[in-house]
Amino acid sequence: MKPDLSVEMFGLTFKNPVMGASGTVGYGIELAPYIDLGRIGAVVTKGISIEPRQGNAPPRLFETASGLLNSIGVQNIGAARFIAEVLPRLEKYDTRIIVNIYGESIQEYRQAAECFCGVEGVDALEVNLSCPNVDKGGLAFGTDPTLVQTVVREVKEASGKPIIAKLTPNVTDISPLARAARDGGADAVSLINTLMGMAVDIRSRGPFFGKVKAGLSGPAIKPVALRLVWEAARELDIPVIGVGGIMTGEDAVEFIMAGAGAVQVGTANFVDPAAMNAVVGGIETFMEENRIERLADIRGVIK
Ligand SMILES: Cc1cc2nc3c(=O)[nH]c(=O)nc-3n(C[C@H](O)[C@H](O)[C@H](O)COP(=O)(O)O)c2cc1C
Repeated sequence: MKPDLSVEMFGLTFKNPVMGASGTVGYGIELAPYIDLGRIGAVVTKGISIEPRQGNAPPRLFETASGLLNSIGVQNIGAARFIAEVLPRLEKYDTRIIVNIYGESIQEYRQAAECFCGVEGVDALEVNLSCPNVDKGGLAFGTDPTLVQTVVREVKEASGKPIIAKLTPNVTDISPLARAARDGGADAVSLINTLMGMAVDIRSRGPFFGKVKAGLSGPAIKPVALRLVWEAARELDIPVIGVGGIMTGEDAVEFIMAGAGAVQVGTANFVDPAAMNAVVGGIETFMEENRIERLADIRGVIK
């Protein structure tokens, strides 16, 4: 008998726990020529803001030992164009659609969320809490429990959609932030976003990136992500979605055993655009070989 990979979260059934991580699959449709989108649980769009954004000047990517630094700056076409031009094309695929939203003030988050109120085809919003809070000198929203709770409450109220709060790992203790997301009404949390890093161009004796700091992703961050997912899952009674360095089905199984209800695949898509299909296949093979019928049988086995 084939193992059952389906996952129930916030009243929705996902055919399997594998999602494309925000910013690594474009708006989702870009991957359609390379993979069977119908074989993954969900697509998470790149960050979408109320107004279009140009993003940062190049260079934007830098490969590190087993990782990737990025400084994209959330380039996107804005919520209105996404809904009018992209969503109708994306909806044709048999996968769930999660829209990742970006804001630099509570009002911007709220306005972005409002755009998706009543928009059919959007199953949930993922709120990127790593955004800089311009009212507070650019410190990320996700570092302050009060702000996390407020942003989550506002976007939930404004959109009427299930909310996934995407937490930043750049904090001393994830527990109060995970609790704040739950208390604000989050239906799930996802973690981790990128770890802050930097690269130096020794020839020019300057920073590699215009903004100096950039976000580190890929296999290098997997152990950190696993630890934070495990901590958050012990703390919360809502689903935790694990992200960070997942390249194979066995990596995904590690996250599920650490307590993740679902997983997202990011940087792996740049190595192989068909990576997510391989991750789904890898989970299935592991379950078959180990006679695991349901994901619930292994979820959170690490206490
Ligand atoms: C190029 C790039 C762009 C990203 N853009 C976003 C974004 O717009 N919003 C967001 O919440 N996360 C964004 N992320 C973070 C990823 O969704 C993910 O949390 C992170 O890369 C860790 O997963 P990975 O190691 O599998 O890539 C981006 C990551 C990369 C590499």
